Amino acid sequence: MSDLENHFGDDASLSEEDTKNILDFLLENSAEKSTKEVSVKVLNSIGNKDIIAITQTSFWKKEHKDIPKELFKNEKIKSKANCKACHTDIEKGLIEDDKIKDISSFM
Ligand code: HEC
Repeated sequence: MSDLENHFGDDASLSEEDTKNILDFLLENSAEKSTKEVSVKVLNSIGNKDIIAITQTSFWKKEHKDIPKELFKNEKIKSKANCKACHTDIEKGLIEDDKIKDISSFM
């Protein structure tokens, strides 16, 4: 949040007020503040490594190891970061097993 001019190759800079609001939200809703099982597993798999993307954690990689790499390039998915393409309830902060799309529907 302190270097949004260089956000994965984009300039994502915001007003001071928006930056503060988003930062407050992120801190309030971080894995460190959550007791959800997935948050704990993600945090544990980060350890003291310098990881800035959940897709780089050993936990995420392990959970998605059976998904063929080419599938993430599918036009309906486009990127590993597009969690919503497969986890239909992720915008509610949920990753329920019965809400994961059958990946064969993309093939
Ligand atoms: C191509 C579809 C796809 C995308 C994109 C995807 N996932 Fe998944 N994810 C799956 C599937 C399928 C599983 C279940 C794997 C299994 O059970 O073998 C899974 C499992 C998981 C789990 C474990 C669920 C549990 O109950 O323990 C988590 C957490 C998770 N994904 C988070 C994410 C996040 C966060 C993103 C985005 C950064 C993401 N996934 C992107 C398909 C996807």
